[in-house]
Amino acid sequence: MIILGIESSCDDTSVSVLKDGKILSVAVNTQLEHIAFGGVIPEIASRAHLKNFPEVLDKALKDSGITLNDVDAVGVTFGPGLVGPLLVGVNFAKGLGFSLSVPVVPVNHIEAHIYANFIDNPDIEYPFIVLVVSGGHTELIYVTEMGKYELIGKTRDDAAGECIDKVSKMLGLGFPGGKIIDELAKSGDKKFETFPRGMPNSLDFSFSGLKTSLKYYIERHDSEFLRNNINNIAASFLDSVTDSLVTKLFKAAKKYSCNTVLLAGGVSANSVLRSKISDQAGKRKMKVYYPHPKYCTDNAAMVAATAYKKIMTDGLEKYRFDSGLDAVPFLVLSE
Ligand code: KG4
Ligand code: ZN
Repeated sequence: MIILGIESSCDDTSVSVLKDGKILSVAVNTQLEHIAFGGVIPEIASRAHLKNFPEVLDKALKDSGITLNDVDAVGVTFGPGLVGPLLVGVNFAKGLGFSLSVPVVPVNHIEAHIYANFIDNPDIEYPFIVLVVSGGHTELIYVTEMGKYELIGKTRDDAAGECIDKVSKMLGLGFPGGKIIDELAKSGDKKFETFPRGMPNSLDFSFSGLKTSLKYYIERHDSEFLRNNINNIAASFLDSVTDSLVTKLFKAAKKYSCNTVLLAGGVSANSVLRSKISDQAGKRKMKVYYPHPKYCTDNAAMVAATAYKKIMTDGLEKYRFDSGLDAVPFLVLSE
């Protein structure tokens, strides 16, 4: 079975081809138009998706060696995300589904981030706790089977990725900040400064206090000091962000007597987070999984992989072509 995955919930235009559960290709165009603004501008993102989709599709097809006529189903992200960008992807998918006479499987973006873990590790056992950390989400979810999700912790304010991106902007490091701060922190001293850890006694998260603390720290120091110590500041800041994430993930695992933990979403590409979670899981003899870095940030491979799992669970019949399929910007995985 060949599935075409389509993703456009934010600023990445992506198409992927999957055959019988294996990724044959994934093409991603990360829009550079937003860098100058220090954040994603929804209207610009929608227009860029419209322009990018034909060439991203061509690349994904060429790299996989298949043609459109080989496609058995299309999987598309229909929420959550920015309404304009989602609408472009959903309508592109519906156009393909209609013209090829194949079903279109609607995929929840957060579910796709979770199932990105199964691309290289198809035998992960349930139940597990997954920490979803991206630019828009920071959530702890207890998963007993595909489709059964219990939300057990979430951010009360900023998402972790949002906090990292905003601090990067305050430090004049550019957007998006995750990869930049990750690189700088590698040669920094995490003990250089101690920044606050939000809501230490809860499974919920808070990153706005940390962001404010960085704001005052930057105001208190001159630009030469900040420039000379940027690696140390990045390392100390990341130590705080990741401490909160790791502590709560293992607290949740203990509470739910769960022996398997997963990471998902753009921030799960972070090297400090990955190594802290591996260390802690090793000490507790627990299993830990995180996606390959190329499947952490937004991509259509995770969408195709999730659509495939849904078809295998529910049968292709359930996903007859539906011209009424619409974008759902505030789609939830569980309450
Ligand atoms: O999942 P994603 O691509 O988009 C959303 O669904 O939000 O996540 C994007 C977020 C951004 O905040 C970006 O700065 C962050 O993931 N990110 C990272 C790293 N790579 C991307 N954060 C920390 N370390 C990284 N290596
Ligand atoms: Zn995402």
